[in-house]
Amino acid sequence: MLKNTEEYGLVIYNFCRQNMSEYAVFIENSPSCKKTQKHKSRKIEVQYMQRKIKVLFICLGNICRSPMAEFILKDLVARRGLTDRFEIASAATSTEEIWKGIGNPIYPPAQTELKKHGIGNTPETDFRDKRARQLTKSDYEIYDYLIGMDESNIRGIERITGHRGGKISMLLSFAGEQVAISDPWYSGRFDKTYADVTRGCEAFLEYLIEQGEV
Ligand code: 4NP
Repeated sequence: MLKNTEEYGLVIYNFCRQNMSEYAVFIENSPSCKKTQKHKSRKIEVQYMQRKIKVLFICLGNICRSPMAEFILKDLVARRGLTDRFEIASAATSTEEIWKGIGNPIYPPAQTELKKHGIGNTPETDFRDKRARQLTKSDYEIYDYLIGMDESNIRGIERITGHRGGKISMLLSFAGEQVAISDPWYSGRFDKTYADVTRGCEAFLEYLIEQGEV
């Protein structure tokens, strides 16, 4: 009997339908077996599951730009009823905001900016428990999209994961702009960061819809 259907779903990735957004899970001798098929002479249940799109936003400290992107995208997908289709998180290339293994919360002015736009008041966007954490090498295997905010983040992601290109991109490239999200830690312009990150996240979501992933 399979215990980890998610893991098994990945093993049989070749059975994916519809642009890889669905995968089949085969559960041997399932008591809830409605639809059975003979597969290598064993009784199995076949469930078609929608695969989650796993997105990791990355910046230097993981207290301003990338957590803003994390919760702005969570808000956008919640408004479209798509929360269950996504796993969205954020991480840092540095350990600047992590002390003795414990990460700092979102920087208060970034929290204020999110709240100004109604983000943080719903279960999907509640950011009170968010703590900075550093990107790891294995995040490259776990996530489908590793999205940095500026060129320096991209170099950090490449250094930590050992990968170039592929799943790695810069947020505003989805909006056709090869420019950075400016860092409000230095500029103090959290309103501009909010506008730029929102434009990038909206364009990213449109990209996923165009690609048939959502
Ligand atoms: P973020 O901003 O990368 O957007 O989270 C920064 C936060 C902290 C530092 C630099 C940038 N720092 O040097 O501590």
